[in-house]
Amino acid sequence: MIEFQQVHKTYRVADRRGAGREVPALQPTDLVIGAGEVFGLIGHSGAGKSTLLRLINRLEEPSGGRILVNGEDVTALDADGLRRFRQRVGMIFQHFNLLMSKTVADNVAMPLRLAGNHSRAEIDSRVAALLARVGLQDHARKYPAQLSGGQKQRVGIARALATEPDILLCDEATSALDPQTTASVLQLLAEINAELKLTIVLITHEMDVIRRVCDRVAVMDGGAIVEQGPVTDVFLHPKHPTTQRFVLEDEAVDDGEQRDDFAHVPGRILRLTFQGEATYKPLLGTVARETGVDFSILSGRIDRIKDTPYGQLTLALVGGDMAAALAHLDAADVHVEVLR
Ligand SMILES: Nc1ncnc2c1ncn2[C@@H]1O[C@H](COP(=O)(O)OP(=O)(O)O)[C@@H](O)[C@H]1O
Ligand SMILES: [Mg+2]
Repeated sequence: MIEFQQVHKTYRVADRRGAGREVPALQPTDLVIGAGEVFGLIGHSGAGKSTLLRLINRLEEPSGGRILVNGEDVTALDADGLRRFRQRVGMIFQHFNLLMSKTVADNVAMPLRLAGNHSRAEIDSRVAALLARVGLQDHARKYPAQLSGGQKQRVGIARALATEPDILLCDEATSALDPQTTASVLQLLAEINAELKLTIVLITHEMDVIRRVCDRVAVMDGGAIVEQGPVTDVFLHPKHPTTQRFVLEDEAVDDGEQRDDFAHVPGRILRLTFQGEATYKPLLGTVARETGVDFSILSGRIDRIKDTPYGQLTLALVGGDMAAALAHLDAADVHVEVLR
């Protein structure tokens, strides 16, 4: 659906003496985003996420490279082609970008009015359907200032969907929302993705957002993609230090503290990762019985990555036939990391 071929971006900023200064924001990047997937981009502030996203609908012009959308080279579009192309790409923002002097219904109708090829009756019925879809049918005549943050973002989503786009770009769309509202907006995005088969590209700095809705993820650092893959792989087996830090932060939020180094705990320390069906198998009891190894659970988590259940356990093992226990675990449907 979206393909980057050696796309790069350098901003030129005039300094006080009028000389140009160059800010490299995106290194030459190759990227393929499939039709119908929810693709996440995670990175710290300044990593180049917004630049990459805004290149997709050419809110930013690339300094070089080609961007293909559905096989069409969007870097080659003229003004007219670009206007038509942008109707196929919806976008939502961290601070919603609603027109405060217009009603909810008028905000949602705006892209249809600008497109200029819809009758008034068509626009009215489409706006009503969109507001119903995002759960705001009773708020059509209100103004944005009368809505909560979550409701404002729902207006933003309805407006983004008005022209029936095939792509939805989300730039930190939940970053201004509390955790509960974030969860409900992410749920809405997941439903829209499933029902409308829309491709979603979503920026965040929170691994939790990636874990809840994304199929694949790219991790950005210093204007480059440093790691990418299915969320289950990247989240459970992060390789790049930046990815590892994001995953640790996500766990620390849940535990309410930093990871213990277990210096005072005797025995071998293992970290087991289960995924899918293996999450529910009674593996540890079997290993303990058959090898005489005792274990204590130091930390653990059972959760979901989108629809896939997973578990991660940090264990201390003592006594028994340690080699046999390790071999048994290794042969099972579980990923074993020996931490010590
Ligand atoms: N319009 C701009 N003009 C000049 N520099 C910019 C502009 N937009 C972004 N940058 C710079 O490009 C880099 C990447 O920014 P951005 O894509 O906004 O990152 P992120 O969204 O990950 O926070 C940063 O160094 C930022 O300061
Ligand atoms: Mg940004």
